[in-house]
Amino acid sequence: MTEPLLKVEGLKKYFPITGGLLGRTKGQVKAVDDISFYVNEGETLGIVGESGCGKSTTGRMLMRLLDPTEGKVTFDGKELTSLSASEMRKARRDIQMVFQDPYASLNPRHSIEKILMEPLNVHNIGDPKERKRKVHEFLEIVGLSSYHAKRYPHQFSGGQRQRIGIARALMTNPKLIIADEPVSALDVSIQAQVLNLMQDLQRDLKLTYIFIAHDLGVVRHISDRVGVMYLGNMAELADTESLYEKPLHPYTQALLSAVPVPDPEFVREEVVIKGDVPSPANPPSGCRFHTRCPFKMDICSQEIPRLAEVEPGHSVACHLYEESRPQ
Ligand SMILES: Nc1ncnc2c1ncn2[C@@H]1O[C@H](COP(=O)(O)OP(=O)(O)OP(=O)(O)O)[C@@H](O)[C@H]1O
Ligand SMILES: [Mg+2]
Repeated sequence: MTEPLLKVEGLKKYFPITGGLLGRTKGQVKAVDDISFYVNEGETLGIVGESGCGKSTTGRMLMRLLDPTEGKVTFDGKELTSLSASEMRKARRDIQMVFQDPYASLNPRHSIEKILMEPLNVHNIGDPKERKRKVHEFLEIVGLSSYHAKRYPHQFSGGQRQRIGIARALMTNPKLIIADEPVSALDVSIQAQVLNLMQDLQRDLKLTYIFIAHDLGVVRHISDRVGVMYLGNMAELADTESLYEKPLHPYTQALLSAVPVPDPEFVREEVVIKGDVPSPANPPSGCRFHTRCPFKMDICSQEIPRLAEVEPGHSVACHLYEESRPQ
């Protein structure tokens, strides 16, 4: 088997909580707390979970827009976490991000041409004439026209702006795109168009995606595998089909109960969770989900369940499946 394109091991991000007159550290927000996963070349890994569970923090650590508190990220054979700032700048050519709100991430005072040219300038790709040609080429690739180059972000619709955000991410010919809720701000009808575009681009340009979303409905179609995060942990990670047909973690089951099922013959057992997500500054002991879990056992508040494969390609971090694990 070939090595995965991206390997994440024991990744953590704790943000200090400071306060008082002297700005002393009063505690820590455990935004991401020991997660591990891999992404194979050419596939899409979906990452889902409720607001605040650490999805964006994870994405930003992979690009080292944020430095991890602990853990290792290996991309294309290089350990990113040990690269110097200038080596990391070079590596960023191969990893790009697409954001939820393209309007906030596109400078309103710059023309589209200038916005799309910037990554080429930063990475010193081509001469001015080639850069211009590339901008026009990529505008067409994402379904816009070269005459759009002279316009400004406010002259576009939300869906068009996201196409520009995608074009900007593609300018350096990256291998991996981390898309953080790329369609969450768009109308449902536009969401499908942007998702289709992303799939076409993946096929044509041989891209690898990490696709972050808060609901399981959006990622199903585009993902080969899906990881479900809860309060900084990975609760379950499986092939898309197996995750949707046979969710194992009570949290995944609850999330899926909220997604409408297209097949009326198919009756899914409904799992309803109570209460709100606890604070990541003071997460529950043991399994972080135990305070809301309808199947809670004694062990759940005492021991952290580890993410382990219980069926081929299907891993879950839950004490209910302790017996099915390889010892
Ligand atoms: N710079 C920061 N300083 C302190 N706390 C932070 C910082 N960035 C994120 N957090 C906290 O870390 C936790 C995880 O945040 P993150 O943005 O990764 O969540 P998310 O899963 O992307 O949520 P959403 O679905 O709302 O985008 C949250 O509790 C958040 O408040
Ligand atoms: Mg986020």
